[in-house]
Amino acid sequence: MSDSVNVVEQPAQDGAQVGEQEPPQVTVQVVEQVVQELRDVVQVVESADAEAATLKPKELLRPVSVQGMMEHALQHRERVGVQDFVLLEDFRSEAAFIDNLKKRFNENIIYTYIGNVLISVNPYKNLPIYTEEKTKLYYKKAFFEAPPHVFAIADNAYRSLVYEHREQCILISGESGSGKTEASKKVLEYIAARTNHLRNVETVKDKLLQSNPLLEAFGNAKTHRNDNSSRFGKYMDIQFNYEGAPEGGHILNYLLEKSRVVSQMSGERNFHIFYQLLAGADQELLKRLNLQSRPEAYKYTTDAASPANQRSHDAAQFHIVQEAMKVIEIGATEQNEMFEIVASVLHLGNAKFVQNDKGFAEILSHDANTGNVAELLKVNAVKLREALTSRTISARGDVVNTPLDIEQAQYARDALAKAMYDKHFSWLVSRLNASMAPKEKDAFSSVIGILDIYGFEIFPKNCFEQFCINFCNEKLQQLFIQLTLKQEQEEYLREGIEWEPVEYFNNIVICDLIEARHTGIIAILDDECLRPGDANDLSFLEKLTQKLDGHKHYKSHRRSDIKTQKIMGRDEFCLVHYAGEVTYNVNTFLEKNNDLLFRDIQSVMAASGNTIVASCFKDLNLTSKKRPETAITQFKNSLNELIKILSSKEPSYIRCIKPNDNKAPMQFDEKLVSHQVKYLGLMENLRVRRAGFAYRRTYEAFLERYKCLSRDTWPNFRGPARDGVQKLVEVLAYEREEYRMGNTKIFIRFPKTLFETEDAYQIKKNDIATIIQSRWRGYWQRKQYLKMKQAAIVIQKWVRRFLAQRLRERRKKAAEVIRAFIKGFITRNGPETPENRRFLGIAKVHWLKRLSTRLPTKVLDLSWPPCPATCQEASLELHRLHRAHLARKYRLALTPKDKKQFELKVLAEKMFKGKKNSYPSSIPERFQEDRLTSEHQVLRNTFMASPSWPTGEQLIYSCEAVKYDRRGYKPRERALLASDKALYVLDASNRKTYKLKHRLPLDKLRVVVTNESDTLVLIKIPQELKKDKGDLIISVSHLIEALTIVTDYSKKPELIEIVDTRTIAHNLVNGKQGGTIEVTTGQQPTIHRAKSGNLLVVATP
Ligand SMILES: Nc1ncnc2c1ncn2[C@@H]1O[C@H](COP(=O)(O)OP(=O)(O)OP(=O)(O)O)[C@@H](O)[C@H]1O
Ligand SMILES: [Mg+2]
Repeated sequence: MSDSVNVVEQPAQDGAQVGEQEPPQVTVQVVEQVVQELRDVVQVVESADAEAATLKPKELLRPVSVQGMMEHALQHRERVGVQDFVLLEDFRSEAAFIDNLKKRFNENIIYTYIGNVLISVNPYKNLPIYTEEKTKLYYKKAFFEAPPHVFAIADNAYRSLVYEHREQCILISGESGSGKTEASKKVLEYIAARTNHLRNVETVKDKLLQSNPLLEAFGNAKTHRNDNSSRFGKYMDIQFNYEGAPEGGHILNYLLEKSRVVSQMSGERNFHIFYQLLAGADQELLKRLNLQSRPEAYKYTTDAASPANQRSHDAAQFHIVQEAMKVIEIGATEQNEMFEIVASVLHLGNAKFVQNDKGFAEILSHDANTGNVAELLKVNAVKLREALTSRTISARGDVVNTPLDIEQAQYARDALAKAMYDKHFSWLVSRLNASMAPKEKDAFSSVIGILDIYGFEIFPKNCFEQFCINFCNEKLQQLFIQLTLKQEQEEYLREGIEWEPVEYFNNIVICDLIEARHTGIIAILDDECLRPGDANDLSFLEKLTQKLDGHKHYKSHRRSDIKTQKIMGRDEFCLVHYAGEVTYNVNTFLEKNNDLLFRDIQSVMAASGNTIVASCFKDLNLTSKKRPETAITQFKNSLNELIKILSSKEPSYIRCIKPNDNKAPMQFDEKLVSHQVKYLGLMENLRVRRAGFAYRRTYEAFLERYKCLSRDTWPNFRGPARDGVQKLVEVLAYEREEYRMGNTKIFIRFPKTLFETEDAYQIKKNDIATIIQSRWRGYWQRKQYLKMKQAAIVIQKWVRRFLAQRLRERRKKAAEVIRAFIKGFITRNGPETPENRRFLGIAKVHWLKRLSTRLPTKVLDLSWPPCPATCQEASLELHRLHRAHLARKYRLALTPKDKKQFELKVLAEKMFKGKKNSYPSSIPERFQEDRLTSEHQVLRNTFMASPSWPTGEQLIYSCEAVKYDRRGYKPRERALLASDKALYVLDASNRKTYKLKHRLPLDKLRVVVTNESDTLVLIKIPQELKKDKGDLIISVSHLIEALTIVTDYSKKPELIEIVDTRTIAHNLVNGKQGGTIEVTTGQQPTIHRAKSGNLLVVATP
């Protein structure tokens, strides 16, 4: 039915009612659906593009976006017409019909549908539409899913067969050269490709495919209308097993044009095989067949006006034929026999008759041609010559041998040639059938039949053959009407839709006119053939006119109007076929119908040593006196058989149209096409289709396609598809008469309704495409993201692994280090060993570092950081060095004054340490050179300025002192000044001036001090200083200081004597003892006169 919506090719229309919808929420699943749909659309667009590619390459190379593609498609539809005629608005106009065909043809689109009938226009050039890729486009596709194509028909048939177990037939019709045989081959090739994946199909497929070149070699010829015209009708069954794999084939052949064997129209040729054999056979074969390689040498092939390259083409074809024979498993012997037959026909054609004295035909006994025939066919040459020149007739028990005249003999010869070739052809078909027969009987097998049979023929002069052929076409048309209407009616019934009667022309009347028992043309012809007496073609015509004149579809010359009479001959009759009027010339009707072969010839042939010839002729009942069935009756019977076969199957139709008479591409002869459109009954076909509903589609498919047009159904309709479609129909505001809701399908009456819906959909698709784009981009980005994430995880994993490994290594090393450290630590105090060497090294370093920060900074700080055992020595050394360093530093930082102090202190130490008890208390206090009060200093300065102070003498020490008298020990206040030369004892008691008492040269003095902590100094006056009377007893508060400073100058420490006696005697200058000084210790240090009269010195303990 009209399942095809022209997705790509409709004109763009306004789709306002759906344009307002908001973009719906889409799930990923929906997006997938839409993507699928879009992909289908794109495919369709692409294929339309491909079809047009040869024409507008620039335009097609232009990059188009998805949206652009759709717009492109909309424009495209204008140019390429509709892909289903059912959608043609003006379906009654033949001009519109032809215009649509022409538009498409000009775009190299050769296929168009009328529902499920495929119209194919012969392009006369190779189009890129049968590639593997294109083939795959049709796998499991409904009609509307891809552009019209012979593959769609094949796939549909195949699917119905395999999935629904309905046997199929594909009926291909059209006039000679319109492409029937090519179409049938495409169907075969498609099925071969479609079943490629199945087991064990290789050889079967090869045989099916290779049957073609073989049949074409023997059954095809070059004619004016077609260089490879099939001169026989062919019906081929392809048998499939339960899983859909081809397992065999069977061919029925109809009415080989055997007259071609003996004569051809000028410019036409005999069957291909003759030329192929002559051009392609090697010398050896030619010699064996006694053939020359020139076709002109043979009467039956003389008329070959062939182009220069024809011979090489024939030769190439011959090798293809030989290959095909191999595939078909025709062995060398059989091949030889076949070629012997072909050669015999050629030789037979050259057989020469001479007229003998009695006026009869005779063949000379040395005639090489008949000799060759006899030799090749292994028949008796004499008998053959006899059979060709005489005829045995049995009349009332008597057998009479009648010689033939030359004309009769030639007739007999040609009859033999025709019969031999014809029978051989039938034998070949049966041989093919034997080879293609399924290996095992399969109860579940089913078939697809392909009928490639001559279409209506209307020539200026039409003969017996045209009569047969057109009769065949009437029968097929009848079948078509029955099946189509039946199908249509059945579908309406199934769908619960009221049947609306369709007006159409039923050609059953014409069929009856031809084949009705007793009254039909065939019956009349047979009667005339079998009638005793001198029946001839004209008497037959007479009978026809007698019986049929007045029939609506029969026109005799006599009854015709004057206009027709002018064109029609007296030996002609006219039939008004469903496709138009055809005038037949009755000449040779009887002869061809009788199809007589003299019995003598038959029996000679039956005795042939060539098994094929023998089997072909043996079957004939030679002994039977009953006449064999006439040609037309045989044909009628086989046709009825065929109709029976076809009626049991579901038909698909391919109607082939020839665009011009020149076998030229890109020429569209509208007149010629119009003629064919008429006699193929296409307008009628379309009218019947359109009588009901132009378009129907299952609810599911309709909903799936148009669901985006309603919010209720988009993105998914939950519920029965029928309800969804109902919703859509409401939204789209279909009028009541525009559509019907069937049980499983929606029926739409007018194409316009569908176009509007489709256009709305096309516009809506833009929105959907945007959604798809966004989803797709999102999806794509997410995919990228996930990929990157995954990659990042992998990288992380490896990095972590690497880091973990490194950490482990480090830990391992660290553990080793720690272990070594601990061992080192344990043995740190022992001698250096390899085990603790490192530890010790580190310990040393650390100690040194630590040490560097903790070095004592004060010279008096004796502390020193601890050290590892191994560093004791170094530590000590360092300590020493450090101390030396500190000391040096200290020293270097000293002022000369301080230095002097130290020198004095050191001197003091030398002189008094451990010798005098007051020494320790002298240490902390700084030695001072001047102990005078400021008042006294003035006095001193005055003194020093006086003449009593010798010039140049340097003061080194000043202090106050107490002098005790040598007698009575009365204390007297004195000041002591020490110069570099002498000690000055001055009286300071009046506090106005110093009065010099003593000047004692230093080098002459001796001093005695106690070992106690007292301040007593006993200055021993030598005898030369008589003036001074005796030893001076003086108390000096800073005794140690004073003595040290003075000694520092004098450099004579030996002058100081420290005594540890309890008593010290002091002398007078004269050497006499002056008194005694007692030394004792006590809490209160004093120096005073004791009761004893001695001077008592009390020192602190
Ligand atoms: N689909 C096609 N693509 C290309 N060329 C084609 C196609 N169909 C037919 N032809 C060309 O047209 C020629 C005639 O086609 P074909 O032999 O199929 O015609 P036919 O209808 O079988 O004629 P006949 O009735 O004489 O046998 C082919 O040899 C081929 O050159
Ligand atoms: Mg053909």
